[in-house]
Amino acid sequence: MKPQTRFIPAMHFRWLTPYFDVLTNWTLPDRELKERLIEQAEIRPQHKVLDLGCGTATLALLIKQRHAEATVIGIDIDTEILKIARRKVQDAGVTIALHEATSVRLPYPDGAFDRVLCSFAMHHLTHADKRRASAEVFRVLRPGGELHVLDFGKPHTAYCLSVSFVLRWTEELMENIQGLLPRIFQDAGFIDVEETSQRATLAGTVSTYSARKPS
Ligand SMILES: C[S@@+](CC[C@H](N)C(=O)[O-])C[C@H]1O[C@@H](n2cnc3c(N)ncnc32)[C@H](O)[C@@H]1O
Repeated sequence: MKPQTRFIPAMHFRWLTPYFDVLTNWTLPDRELKERLIEQAEIRPQHKVLDLGCGTATLALLIKQRHAEATVIGIDIDTEILKIARRKVQDAGVTIALHEATSVRLPYPDGAFDRVLCSFAMHHLTHADKRRASAEVFRVLRPGGELHVLDFGKPHTAYCLSVSFVLRWTEELMENIQGLLPRIFQDAGFIDVEETSQRATLAGTVSTYSARKPS
């Protein structure tokens, strides 16, 4: 199924797509942040895990390295970024299914996943799409399944606050910066919604969140 919707590419400008991994590593402690998210998710060997807005599959690959027996699937709307992801997965010699789909219409049955992880993809979605995607994640998680998110959050230092005045006009960052992601997850039906960490980075406050579908 080919997604039809418009989207913001990984590094905003299409011509920057090939440099996404390099630029991300310049601006963020990317690996450290993703590893912390994976730790938080407490993935088990039998788990089926979805990486939502997987980009170049960095997170999906880290999950598979840490949890070789878990089933890992990545979805992204962008054909071009998925070409890079497929190369990386092939080079790593692991099995990760990568699907081209939109987060707002997931091509999976109800209750198909134990965990959904999402890093730096929520801020690419409009307010309405953040809500639609959260509802879709809720639908595809099994009862008791968990959502774990890493993304820009509400500024918590003077430096991060000043960066946020620039960032709020880029991509779809307003709800992130206003600290509204937990509210959006709650509105989708999630419980135990928490901001689990905040970290100051060159690009502003980066937060992690966790949320659970009721059993
Ligand atoms: C900043 S990148 C993050 C990629 C990856 N998760 C990471 O942390 O390295 C955001 C990703 O979200 C994807 N994206 C944007 N809109 C989307 C949508 N509606 N459905 C699925 N993916 C989307 C983009 O194509 C891009 O790969």
